Amino acid sequence: MDRPTPDPDALAPTAPRSPASLAWWQERVLYQIFVPSFQDADGDGFGDLAGLISRLDHLSDLGIGAVWLTPIYATPFEDAGYDVTDFTQVGARFGDLPTFDRLLAGLHARDIRLILDFVPNHTSDRHPWFRESRASRASPRRDWYVWRDPGPEGSAPNNWLSRFGGSAWTHDARTDQSYYHAFLPSQPDLNWRNPEVRRAMHEVMRFWLRRGVDGFRIDAAAVLAEDAALRDDPPNPDFDGDTPPPERFRRLRTDSQVVTLDYLAELRRVVEEFPDRVLLGEVDTAPDKLPGFYGEGTRRLHLPLNYRLLSVPWKAAALAGAVDAFLDALPPGAWPNWVLGSHDKARIASRVGPAQARVAALMLLTLPGTPMLFAGDEIGMPNVPVPVDRMRDPFERLVPGYGLSRDPSRVPLPWTAGPGGGFSAVEPWLPAPCPPPVAPVAAQARDPASLLSLYRAVIALRRRRPEFRAGGYARLRAEGGVFAYARDLDGVRGIVALNLTPSRLEAEVGTGRILLSTRPGRGGACEGRLCLEPHEGVVIAA
Ligand code: NOJ
Repeated sequence: MDRPTPDPDALAPTAPRSPASLAWWQERVLYQIFVPSFQDADGDGFGDLAGLISRLDHLSDLGIGAVWLTPIYATPFEDAGYDVTDFTQVGARFGDLPTFDRLLAGLHARDIRLILDFVPNHTSDRHPWFRESRASRASPRRDWYVWRDPGPEGSAPNNWLSRFGGSAWTHDARTDQSYYHAFLPSQPDLNWRNPEVRRAMHEVMRFWLRRGVDGFRIDAAAVLAEDAALRDDPPNPDFDGDTPPPERFRRLRTDSQVVTLDYLAELRRVVEEFPDRVLLGEVDTAPDKLPGFYGEGTRRLHLPLNYRLLSVPWKAAALAGAVDAFLDALPPGAWPNWVLGSHDKARIASRVGPAQARVAALMLLTLPGTPMLFAGDEIGMPNVPVPVDRMRDPFERLVPGYGLSRDPSRVPLPWTAGPGGGFSAVEPWLPAPCPPPVAPVAAQARDPASLLSLYRAVIALRRRRPEFRAGGYARLRAEGGVFAYARDLDGVRGIVALNLTPSRLEAEVGTGRILLSTRPGRGGACEGRLCLEPHEGVVIAA
């Protein structure tokens, strides 16, 4: 008798799945490209789409299955492109629509999907919608943004703070009202409570979906709508002298509002008008809120991006605990995902050091769920200090003294050992140190012991062995500096054992054959008690 097929919507996140049932976004490795720093082709010092086309071999050789591009739209570039003046135009610094179509075709020809950054929460203050909105209180687009009368004596309408420092309200003398901005004053928030705004943004999505994009990463997905009554945020009880001022209050009235979840469900319905597309979302939320973003009964995001591994102490017990806590927080049917880097966070190689960066690679690619790799992490790019006079991220300038600049993880990638690292023929928009801080892509591609070769090998292993894509997850140990887990599928067990310490350790993890190690050249059998070299991670076929 046939076994009944389990309902994927009812499965625990740690349960095995049938490999054939997985969607592309569940089994592939996703790769985030910060476009301004990937490859410049037109010689203006900024990465662009033509440059990306010239680097497609790197993506195929790495073995990733989808790319997420940071914003490529028309923009004055005050926040690295997250300040958009036209959502359906490619910005001139990035290229044009025909080049975009060429890129999409080139990616699809290599069986690589394309995910665009969708920035629905705000526009640039130079967007024609905002120009119209601010022109007069009677403007038909007035209500497309969040305008309020000032408080007593011209004060802000309430205590909400911008994430980039100062009040989240900017007073506009022309009409004597203030507009709300979760980010920079030059990034006014759209009013998502207005159905015309929602319709306009749905049309933006359809524009790109019709062109053939495979999905979106929704920027600031948890903050689309604010408390309608504009109630003050309460003080943050953890605020002390070391906390950056924008965190003085807890963002209870602007983050994760119930109505925002309704708007995300609408976005999901839009992508479902097209077959086989995906919605990722930037959602930094408490565990109890996570199920709502996946959707309970209602479908919302396929993958609310999970940044937990970036803040947890890099120790076996803490990592294992963070993995369990995340998996426990997921509702039935939800698919996990793991992120180890982004253009907003410190580079993993700097955080954990080059030796542990290899362990991190192995873990990222073997935990249950979809891995998201940040371009540059595959060659171990560290944070690169950027001198004050070259700084581009407004965050540090607006909230000085806390080391908040995101520029160090955004510098151009080194492709070759030549001047500018092969990124650009001219001085790039952010410094490209010469010599590069790590061996460039070309050198690492030739070196079987490089981090790049390790990434390629582990991605190839995922492709060959379905237990690492679809297998169940069970923690085996998290004590004594070793984090080990099993991935089980139809009687096949893969074991991953990670030494998080600089010491040689022995651990009881099971018997089997070593398939791969972070230390080149290691092979052989494991007879139950495994000896792990300092900073070594291994994969065992049990
Ligand atoms: C999140 C993006 O990742 C970040 O880079 C940007 O500054 C803010 N959203 C505002 O769009």
